[in-house]
Amino acid sequence: MSFSDQFFRALGIAPGDRRQLNAFAARSGVSPARLRYYNDANVLPSGGDLPRVLEAGGISELELMLAMGRLSRDTLSAIQANAAAVAKLLQASQPGDAQTKTVVNAPRSALETALGRLYEGDCMDLMPTLDSDSVDMIFADPPFNLNKLYPSSINDNLKTERYLEWCEAWLAECIRLLKPGGALFLWNLPRWNAEIAPFLTSRLTFVHWIAVDIKYSLPIQRRLYPSHYSLLYYVKGPQARVFHPDRLPMQTCPHCAGDLRDYGGYKAKMNPKGVNLSDVWWDVSPVRHAKYKRRSGANELPLKLMDRIIEMSTDEDDLVFDPFGGAGTTYMAAELKRRRWIGIEIGPTDDIVRRFADIDQDRKLLTGQRNDLNALFPNKVRAMREMKGLWTCESVRAATVDHPQQLRLKAIANSSA
Ligand SMILES: C[S@@+](CC[C@H](N)C(=O)[O-])C[C@H]1O[C@@H](n2cnc3c(N)ncnc32)[C@H](O)[C@@H]1O
Repeated sequence: MSFSDQFFRALGIAPGDRRQLNAFAARSGVSPARLRYYNDANVLPSGGDLPRVLEAGGISELELMLAMGRLSRDTLSAIQANAAAVAKLLQASQPGDAQTKTVVNAPRSALETALGRLYEGDCMDLMPTLDSDSVDMIFADPPFNLNKLYPSSINDNLKTERYLEWCEAWLAECIRLLKPGGALFLWNLPRWNAEIAPFLTSRLTFVHWIAVDIKYSLPIQRRLYPSHYSLLYYVKGPQARVFHPDRLPMQTCPHCAGDLRDYGGYKAKMNPKGVNLSDVWWDVSPVRHAKYKRRSGANELPLKLMDRIIEMSTDEDDLVFDPFGGAGTTYMAAELKRRRWIGIEIGPTDDIVRRFADIDQDRKLLTGQRNDLNALFPNKVRAMREMKGLWTCESVRAATVDHPQQLRLKAIANSSA
C-alpha cells in the first residue's frame, strides 16, 4: 500500500531524488526520514514540522492538503460555501460524464441457471448495461490490493489513491443499480473500509459495521493481531425493505454441551428460537479444508457467511448482484436459497461452472448449517444436554409453570448475588 508521492510533488521534490530531499530537509529543518514518512503515509505534518514544511515549500496549508487529497471539515465548508465556483473550475478539467461511457468489451455469458446468469469479463463493462434501481441486494468482495496473484492477473498492487478511486467508481455503479430499500454489503479489510465508508455514507444510509472474527494474517510485531474482516452494511434510502436476520444457537462447550456462561435467572428469558444476531460474527470459519475449496487460492468466502447475508436482506425471488465472482459463493448461496442472481468474474469462470455442476455438495453443506439456526439448542446439543441433565428451554419452561413463585425468588437471589 503506497501513495503516489503527492506530498513530495506538492513541495517540488522529485520522487526518488535524494539530493532534492536532503536539500529540502536542510532548508526546512525537518529530517529526511520524517519527510519520507509524511510522503509514504500521505500524512499532513503536525506540530513544529507543519510551519517549517510550509515555509520551505512556499505553500499554504490548504494547498498542501488539497494536493495530498486530504480534506478537513474546514476545507469542505469552504468548498461548500463556494460550490458553484468550485464546480465550474473542476468541470472544466474533468473527463466526460460516466453516464456516456460506451462499453467496449461486452462480457460473455459463461453460465445460465434457472435463477441466474454468470458473465466472464470486467464488472465495469457489465454494470452500465444493467438498469438503474433494479437490484435488491449487492454483495461485493473486491481484491484487497495486497499484491496477490489472481488467476485473472489483475493488478492487485495499485497506488492507494488509485485503488480507492477504482472502488468508488464501481461502488457508484452499484449504488445506481440498487433498488430503494435495497442493501449493499462491502467485505474488505478494516483499513480499506475505513477509507471507503465516508463515500458510501454520502450516498446511502449506514446500517452496520459488522466485525467478522476471522484471523486473516499472521501476528505482526508492534501491531495487534488482525482478527476481523469488516463487513459494511448500507441501505438505499431511509430503511431496508427486508430485514430478517437468523437467530443463533447459544454458545455451548463443543465437548460436553455445557454452558460457557452463567445464565443465572435469565434462562427463562432466553428466546427458544435462539440468540439475537449481533454486529460481531464469531461463528464463521474460513474455508480452509481442500475438500470444501472450490478454487485454489485463499480468497473464497464461506457459504455460511453468504447464507446469513442473503437470508437477512432478501426474500425469495429477489435479485442479488455480486460484481466479483471468485469461486462463486454468492451465486451458489443465492441459487440454493431461490433468489435470482447476476454475477461476473474477470478471470476464468470454469471453477464456478464446475461448482454449479456439483451443486448438491453445496446444498448438503447449506442444509446442515441451516439445521443449527433459529433454535437456542440445535437438536444434537439439546439431546446431549437432556442426557446430562443440563437445562433446556423445555426444562426451564416446565419449572416456570410448575413453580413460578420459586423461580422468581431464585432469579431475584441470583441477580442480587
Ligand atoms: C476476493 S475474490 C472474490 C471471492 C468470492 N467472494 C468468493 O467467495 O469466491 C475477488 C475476485 O474478483 C475478481 N475481479 C477483480 N477485478 C474484477 C473486475 N473488474 N470485474 C470482475 N471481477 C473482478 C478477481 O479475479 C477475483 O476472483
